[in-house]
Amino acid sequence: MDQIVIRGGQRLKGRIPISGAKNAALTLLPCALLTDEPLTLRNLPRLADVDGFGHLLNQLGCSTTIEGSRPEDFGRVMTARTTTLTSTIAPYDIVRKMRASILVLGPLLARAGEATVSLPGGCAIGNRPIDLHLKALEAFGAQIELTSGYVKAVAPGGRLGGGKFTFPVVSVGATENALMAASLAKGTCVLKNAAREPEIVDLCNCLVAMGAHIDGIGTETLTVEGVDRLHGATYRVMADRIEAGSYACAAVITEGDVELVGAKADEMEATLSALRQAGATVEETKTGIRVAMSGRAEPVTLSTAPYPGFATDMQAQFMAMATLGKGASLFTETIFENRYMHVPELARMGCDIDVRGRSAVVRGVDHLVGAPVMATDLRASMSLIIAGLAAEGTTEVNRVYHLDRGYERLEEKLQAVGADIERISAG
Ligand code: UD1
Repeated sequence: MDQIVIRGGQRLKGRIPISGAKNAALTLLPCALLTDEPLTLRNLPRLADVDGFGHLLNQLGCSTTIEGSRPEDFGRVMTARTTTLTSTIAPYDIVRKMRASILVLGPLLARAGEATVSLPGGCAIGNRPIDLHLKALEAFGAQIELTSGYVKAVAPGGRLGGGKFTFPVVSVGATENALMAASLAKGTCVLKNAAREPEIVDLCNCLVAMGAHIDGIGTETLTVEGVDRLHGATYRVMADRIEAGSYACAAVITEGDVELVGAKADEMEATLSALRQAGATVEETKTGIRVAMSGRAEPVTLSTAPYPGFATDMQAQFMAMATLGKGASLFTETIFENRYMHVPELARMGCDIDVRGRSAVVRGVDHLVGAPVMATDLRASMSLIIAGLAAEGTTEVNRVYHLDRGYERLEEKLQAVGADIERISAG
């Protein structure tokens, strides 16, 4: 298995191009199942999860072509066309590897009137049920059965009707599934306490470009008036606010000065405010956001929350940053249980972190020491990279396939701003 080796201590300086957002790409791709016309997605990141989703679409009868991208370019253009659905089944062997596969449920049900999708099962950052996905679809008339580890959903008469659903807790994925399903319903579907993440706005904008009628975009109440058919569209995937925030943390811990090219400040206010809390200089530039730091980070107090709150997907990276901070930082994780798996690995590098239930106290230490560490999930892996960039000596990050799921050409981007980092291929 590949390894990433970092010799820490280099200050990051320069420009980092920000890729298309993984989490937006994974909800825009299934939109290709909603129409028989082509959906062209630009700025699609080159990531293992995006390739995996492409394969799933292929299994369902969607043809995908990648155009005009040279290996040295970031991002790709993919055209996906589902002239006819050849299957409405998302099998276990795909869904278990990629949780986001559950996002074909809504589109398949909307287009074909039926869908069979494997239950995703547990995952590294907790239990992650899908009950809200199913309840929202039921509110729109779907009949759902759980058998042998699969969800079987049917729309009586071949089409979902209208309905209302109030989410008891905010769920990004369930909001996405419900939106895609509702877009072709026969009637009006209302979603209350819907997720407001920028990726949801990106999905809504793409659906609207395909002919959907959605009101309340960017708010917690989304009203979708179903249409009889959707058409093709060309759509550009938004910039990855989590990737941008991750590199910002790397800049702060190395007392660097970077421009996150393509990042949008209005989509990552909570992250930028947390960076300012840490003492960083954060300013919008013509082409992105500049983040600069001198000296050790101030302690931060951060609690994760649905958007516009501080993102759970940024918690591990800020924690890594705080390990070399001036005092004690306090983190509270409210979205997922078991999302502190980076802590024992960071401890191997000399960090002082005390986890008590959902909270963690990080006491800044004077230096970190490089060590062999193991990536456990995507964002946890990035926290190890961030710590490694500032640690004395060599850090070897193992199990880098987690990083390949979500960071496009990580080592190239970091090398270009001065990091001493390389990938050792397993042959
Ligand atoms: C998405 C993101 C992930 C991010 C998360 C929260 C993608 C591909 N993934 O995941 O990176 O960390 O949002 O911002 O976009 N819940 C239920 N029942 C459900 C669904 C969710 O109880 O049916 C709970 C979850 O266990 C969790 C909370 O709701 O506690 C939020 O999860 P959710 O927003 O659904 O996360 P994902 O969409 O899986």
